[in-house]
Amino acid sequence: MSAGKGSFAYAGGATLLDPAPSSTAGGAAPKTHPWPPIDPTKNQIITIIGKKGSGKSVAARHLFRSWPGSDRLIIDITGDADPGDDMNAIRLPQDLTRLPAFDPNQGPQVYRWIPDTRSATFRDDIDRALGAGLYPKDRPVLVWVDEKGEAFKANQTGPHGRTALHQGRHHKLSMILCGPRAMGVEPLCISQGDRVLMYDVPNPADRERIAANIGVSPRVLTAELNETKRRGPYWYLMYVAAEDQLYRCPPLPHQES
Ligand SMILES: Nc1ncnc2c1ncn2[C@@H]1O[C@H](COP(=O)(O)OP(=O)(O)O)[C@@H](O)[C@H]1O
Ligand SMILES: [Mg+2]
Repeated sequence: MSAGKGSFAYAGGATLLDPAPSSTAGGAAPKTHPWPPIDPTKNQIITIIGKKGSGKSVAARHLFRSWPGSDRLIIDITGDADPGDDMNAIRLPQDLTRLPAFDPNQGPQVYRWIPDTRSATFRDDIDRALGAGLYPKDRPVLVWVDEKGEAFKANQTGPHGRTALHQGRHHKLSMILCGPRAMGVEPLCISQGDRVLMYDVPNPADRERIAANIGVSPRVLTAELNETKRRGPYWYLMYVAAEDQLYRCPPLPHQES
């Protein structure tokens, strides 16, 4: 990934797929494309779905590490969303509500918050921590939530979670949201996603939920996911909302920490 003018792109390339009904996996001649660049100055929601071990956290870590120009916060629900020792992440206390004050001499920082899974107010704690990405409104923050199901549970998403999904752009908030399932999770995580990265999604109900929220037929999505899986481990399908396009992409670089 190389930092460009206000955006960054990964040099590995991607294949633009034609999601028209006539196109099934392996049908129309694929068009090779550069990996569509991300503009980190715009509010971005990047949702990453796939079963355990399929490569979500590795992808999230790569995007997180590559993200320029803003404070970065990991809401690390499983305790293993490690950005890498070289990021010198600052561990934040349990009662997190705000990030430490921005110090212009230090510049943007990397922060990590790990909730106490034994807390009686576990979900509320997570929702409150999301507020650290929302306020103050004019402070750009990238938040990586590893295990979005806890932070954005369907019908139980807290006030900060709702604000983050509906009004992130008013808060200069970007998010990388990882989780194994689409079902049981707030559907806005997909429908508000600027990108949806799909690894191995074996459950048909999850595929239907994703398909409905990105506007692709479940049959086409299943065919493209199967074809992507055939390419090898850690390949993924990426929906880019601004283009309303699907891309098939080779594995992102795996940075050992
Ligand atoms: N892009 C990749 N390239 C090489 N190895 C990968 C890649 N993605 C994942 N892996 C391997 O698979 C393991 C599990 O990936 P991870 O991202 O932690 O899965 P998930 O978060 O989906 O459970 C990683 O520890 C790594 O060894
Ligand atoms: Mg993971």
